[in-house]
Amino acid sequence: MKFLLTAGPTREAIDPVRYISNRSSGKMGYAIAEAAIAAGHEVILISGPVCLPPPSGVQLVKVTTADEMYAAVHEQITSVDIAILAAAVADFKPAQVSTQKLKKHEGIPEIRLVPTRDILASLGAIAARHFLLVGFAAETENIAANAVNKLIRKGCDIIIANDVSNSEIGFESDENAVTLYSRDADNIVIPRAKKSDMARALIRIFCDLIKNR
Ligand code: PMT
Repeated sequence: MKFLLTAGPTREAIDPVRYISNRSSGKMGYAIAEAAIAAGHEVILISGPVCLPPPSGVQLVKVTTADEMYAAVHEQITSVDIAILAAAVADFKPAQVSTQKLKKHEGIPEIRLVPTRDILASLGAIAARHFLLVGFAAETENIAANAVNKLIRKGCDIIIANDVSNSEIGFESDENAVTLYSRDADNIVIPRAKKSDMARALIRIFCDLIKNR
């Protein structure tokens, strides 16, 4: 099967030296890419800026901003069987990017933010889509309710919720603990495990779901 994965953060420029970003290391998305390759699948990995080597055998597309990730995903999506969006895409970007470095002596800048385009929701809105659509939900509170809300609002088939307020899992850690929510199947809990082990379990779950569609 052909997998499309997004991983890592995006960076939204303020000026030539500063940007808005987040703590995503790319470990979760890269682990899923590696597990998919190991299981014999084809993988397109669309990655924000991370410090990880790409798993051997993936087709790597490097991007920096949310707009670039949006374009790269839509360029590749027609040929895939499953899209898994593990990237932590910035929800907001500066309305204007200064062409010159903002100067401290000019005072504290007020930076107006505008929303980025939502990649997951744009895929969820594709009528009669041919691929399984999986999103992640990075939550700090009311995890189950917020995740189910995202599942419905963004129109995906599965949402994988993780608690990013726990410093031992989620962002940057080698481990994670997740619950998978879908519209018409029971929730699946994957207790705390190494991201590499969790990724293998996720690949098995997704392949079963695709075969039984
Ligand atoms: O990279 P690691 O350090 O290993 O950490 C892993 C992780 C915590 C980043 C990962 O497990 C995770 O939760 N990824 C999703 C992070 C996120 O942006 O969650 P969200 O709840 O804000 O977004 C929900 C979904 O919408 C996600 O699939 C996200 O990729 C997608 N999204 C969000 C905003 C946007 N503009 N476009 C999107 O497609």
